[in-house]
Amino acid sequence: MKEYVLLLLLALGSAKPFSSPSYLTLKNMMLKDMEDADDDDDDDDDDENSLFPTRQPIMPFFPFDLFPSCPFGCQCYSRVVHCSDLGLTSIPNNIPFDTRLIDLQNNKIKEIKENDFKGLTSLYGLMLNNNKLTKIHPKAFLPVKKLRRLYLSHNLLTEIPINLPKSLAELRIHDNKVKKIQKETFKGMNALHVLEMSANPLENDGIDPAAFEGVTVFHIRIADAKLTSVPKGLPSSLLELHLDDNKISTVELEDFKRYKDLQRLGLGNNKIKDIENGSLANIPHVREIHLEKNKLKKVPPGLQDLKYLQVIFLHHNNITRVGVNDFCPTVTKKKKSLYSAISLFNNPVKYWELQPATFRCVLSRMSVQLGNFRK
Ligand SMILES: *[C@@H]1O[C@H](CO)[C@@H](O)[C@H](O)[C@H]1NC(C)=O
Ligand SMILES: *[C@@H]1O[C@H](CO)[C@@H](O)[C@H](O)[C@H]1NC(C)=O
Repeated sequence: MKEYVLLLLLALGSAKPFSSPSYLTLKNMMLKDMEDADDDDDDDDDDENSLFPTRQPIMPFFPFDLFPSCPFGCQCYSRVVHCSDLGLTSIPNNIPFDTRLIDLQNNKIKEIKENDFKGLTSLYGLMLNNNKLTKIHPKAFLPVKKLRRLYLSHNLLTEIPINLPKSLAELRIHDNKVKKIQKETFKGMNALHVLEMSANPLENDGIDPAAFEGVTVFHIRIADAKLTSVPKGLPSSLLELHLDDNKISTVELEDFKRYKDLQRLGLGNNKIKDIENGSLANIPHVREIHLEKNKLKKVPPGLQDLKYLQVIFLHHNNITRVGVNDFCPTVTKKKKSLYSAISLFNNPVKYWELQPATFRCVLSRMSVQLGNFRK
C-alpha cells in the first residue's frame, strides 16, 4: 500500500504540465500495478508491486497514452472513475472507454444526454444517486450493453427510464417522483434481480399490469409510497417483497396468489385491519413476516400452517386476545423451523392470560417479546 501512496504523490508531483508524457505513463503504470494487485493480493510484494514492474514492462510497448485521460477533478484507477461530490452539472465527456464503474454521486447533474455514455462498452456500474436528474434521453443507455448496476436514488425523475440495458441486475430509484410504471418498462430484462423504488408517489393504479411481464425479479421494495393494497402484477419469481410504510388496509385472499416463492414479506406500518383467512396459505415457504404498526385485532389466521415461518412481528397493533393454537400447529412435527422471533408488545392483550403452550414451537423463551407484562 505504501508504494501506491508514493506513486500517487509522485504522479501528483509531476503533474504540473498536465498532459506531460511522464505523468501519463506513470499513471498507466499505476493502473497496471493496481490491476495486478487486484488479481493476486497475497503474492510476494517484491516483484508484484515494485515501482518498476519486471514481469510485464509496459512502458516500452505503450509510449503514448492509450487510455483517454481522467476527467478533471475525478480519480481514475483500476478502471474505476470516482467523480463524486464535485458539483458537476453534466456527465464528464472524457471518461476512459474501458471504465467498469463510474461514481457520480452527490453532484448537480440535471440531465443525461444521448451521447453521454458513448463508447463505454465495459461499464457495469453507474452511480448517479443524489443529483438533480429530471431527464434521461431514451437512447442514453444504448451503448452500455453490459451495465449491471444502476443507482438513480435521490433524484427528480418522474418515470423509470425507458430502454434500460437488458443486462441490468440491480436498479435503485429510491426517492424520486415516479408515479407510474409503464407497460413493458422491464421488457427483456432477464437478469433484473433487485428493484428498489421506495419513497416514490406510486399508487396501485400507477403500476401497469403488464409492466413486469416475463421478468424474474427476486427482491422488490416499494416502501413509503401510496399503495392501498398489495400490488398484484409484480413478478411471480419474488422471494422478498417490502411494502412497509404504505396505506394498505386489508390483505385479501388473492393478494399473494402470484408470489408462491415468497420468503420475506414486509408490511409494517400500514393500516391493515384484516388478513383474510387463506391468504397466507399462498406463501407456504415464507420465513419472515413484518406486520408491526398496523391495526390488526387478532393474530393473522393461518400462521400455524406456515412450516418455515421463523420471524413474525405483530407489535403495535390492536390485538386483544391470543389463542393457544394461533402460532403453532397442533401436531408439533409439522413445524419444520422453530420461531426465532415473535413480537407482541404494545397490544391491548392481557399477557398474563396467555397460556405457555401458545409458544410451544419457539426456539427459546427469548424468542418471544411480550413487552410490558412484567410491569
Ligand atoms: C381458516 O381456514 C381454514 C381452512 O379452510 C380453517 O380450517 C380455519 O378454521 C379457518 N380459520 C379461521 C380463523 O377462520
Ligand atoms: C382497537 O379496537 C377497538 C375495538 O376492538 C376499537 O374500539 C379501538 O378504536 C381500536 N383502536 C385502534 C387504535 O384502532
